[in-house]
Amino acid sequence: MKPITLDTITQAVINHGDGGKTHPRLYEIYTSLVKHLHAFVREVNLTEPELQQGRDFLNRVSRHTQFIPDGEMQVLTDLLGISELVLLLQDTIGKATESNLEGPLYIPNAPERQIGDRIGVDVEGEALFLSGRVLDVNGQAIANALIEVWQPNSQGLYDIFDPSQPAGNFRGQFHTDRDGNYRFETVVPSGYDVPADGPCGEVLRLLGRHTWRAAHIHFKLSATGYLPLTTQVFIEGAPQLDADTTFAVRTNILKLQKHESADAKAQHQPSHTAEFDFVLKPIEAAK
Ligand SMILES: [Fe+2]
Repeated sequence: MKPITLDTITQAVINHGDGGKTHPRLYEIYTSLVKHLHAFVREVNLTEPELQQGRDFLNRVSRHTQFIPDGEMQVLTDLLGISELVLLLQDTIGKATESNLEGPLYIPNAPERQIGDRIGVDVEGEALFLSGRVLDVNGQAIANALIEVWQPNSQGLYDIFDPSQPAGNFRGQFHTDRDGNYRFETVVPSGYDVPADGPCGEVLRLLGRHTWRAAHIHFKLSATGYLPLTTQVFIEGAPQLDADTTFAVRTNILKLQKHESADAKAQHQPSHTAEFDFVLKPIEAAK
């Protein structure tokens, strides 16, 4: 029998099984994870109390609460940049629109809207007329693509957290027309702080990290023959665009064109127009 030592323990853990005969991919992930975790413990010379703190933290992160029914595991991977890293790796294939985090606030079956509809009520908000096309990677229009959209209002509040907003406010689903066009009216959203009352928020504060999400609009697109796309589009010039707490700001930047109100005396808000095209990958790209 070989005694377990500092030099043998990592390999002993890796060897303790069938060497990936039954589940090779799981074994590949497991082996690498064990190597990196052991290297991390060695590098920081982790103490027993620190290990216990780590266990307590992960236990709390995975706890289900009334406000976070699934626990904070997804929040944790977002805040560590792991969720975005996985998407970055996936997006190296093809020239389609980048995918991005869905976040926890998507609700299926949003109100059905017609092209040109306004998707929410917000008297304080500055109107944004957003339009564009849904295209394939060769620039051909995709007709009848489903576009689902959701966003916070001009105060950075989603309908589900704000009793003053009607249900379904700033949510909607559309279909593109025969030329792949979509068009709707909304307001320029504000960024917001992610809820930070739980264990992840606690650690962020200890690290001096803020919890701000740069202003964005969420989209989900699907069309027959194409891979579904979940993404976010960020407002150019928004605060913390270069320091989003989930590291989600990449190349999907919405450039707004501002139009001052013709009736300045009446203090009507300025409005904005913007265009953004989405490009979907064909299903074959996943094979
Ligand atoms: Fe969001």
